[in-house]
Amino acid sequence: MGTILVTGGCGYIGAHTIVDLLENGFEVVSADNLSRASEHSLSGIEKITGKKIKNYCVDLTDAKATENIFIENPSIIGIIHFAAYKAVGESVEKPLEYYENNIFSLVHLLKMAVKYNAKHFIFSSSCTVYGNPDAIPVTEQTELKPAASPYGATKQMGETIVRDTAFIQPLSTILLRYFNPVGAHPSTAIGELPIGRPQNLVPAITQTAIGKLDTMNVYGDDYDTRDGSCIRDYIHVCDIAHAHTLALQYSIKNNQVKSCEVFNLGTGNGITVLEAIKAFEKVAGVSLNYKIGPRRAGDIVAIYANNDFAVKKLSWEIKYSLEDMMRTAWAWEQSLVK
Ligand code: WQD
Repeated sequence: MGTILVTGGCGYIGAHTIVDLLENGFEVVSADNLSRASEHSLSGIEKITGKKIKNYCVDLTDAKATENIFIENPSIIGIIHFAAYKAVGESVEKPLEYYENNIFSLVHLLKMAVKYNAKHFIFSSSCTVYGNPDAIPVTEQTELKPAASPYGATKQMGETIVRDTAFIQPLSTILLRYFNPVGAHPSTAIGELPIGRPQNLVPAITQTAIGKLDTMNVYGDDYDTRDGSCIRDYIHVCDIAHAHTLALQYSIKNNQVKSCEVFNLGTGNGITVLEAIKAFEKVAGVSLNYKIGPRRAGDIVAIYANNDFAVKKLSWEIKYSLEDMMRTAWAWEQSLVK
């Protein structure tokens, strides 16, 4: 089936996707400079699949080091590009680091994809590209509003760069817009490893529940929603991972060139922050110590996906419920203290 280069392969979604690719018969090499992840993920992948994955500890903003991966692996037929900085708040503080890292790495990889005929290119995008949508659920045709952060801007620019390249070069490209990936592999061998205090909701919940954090804030309960807290489309990381395998199989089967398709990867269900907390409390059998705090700058009120296109064209089925997301996230957090 050929080899797939997974950049950011030691990261949260990258590691889960490598497991799914291996379970579906693909060979995989990883490229991850470990700036935001640890090789701990590779041992987790081996524990689940029995396979050792080679990771190139390479900075993809270094064109020569990036090319060397392709020279050493002539069997690469496709790339899944996860490697990017992704903290919304940090991107406001360090915009040039975000533009340099996220854009330069993408340009180098696209050049290598063309030069070495790695024609199947899957780009890790995000619902952030929609900004604050006028209407929800959003479809892939929903107008993109101005990005709310430099991080979101790098995802919007990234989509444009991929689309423009695929317009002229013989690549088959797919843009996958993730909503809110949460949870962990049922084996608890891999999961999310936030660096420092978690910015995202579910790791903040599990770290508060296990006592790593004394308490956590709900950032506002005065929004115009059913319970006043923000609405998001939480989706299990394993459902996201399998969608990448399906997208690759779709690209290989269709054998297109000069193509660029977009898919929303969300469940289609909007859940409020308070509903997510209640679901966790029910599954974990604990009462979470949280406070209602002020709104967080940059938060949008509500967004969730219309995922019909991905379900129909990729034959994608959502397998994990909100309770499964919370159960696996909690099991993973508990495994970290053992
Ligand atoms: C979700 C909701 C918070 C923490 C971002 C990126 C997105 C993707 C996922 C990269 C919001 C509330 C959170 C807390 C809270 N990143 N919250 N207390 O901001 O929707 O999406 O992360 O791929 O691209 O934009 O996710 O989990 O940070 O927040 O109340 O301690 O939970 O206000 O309403 P977000 P999040």
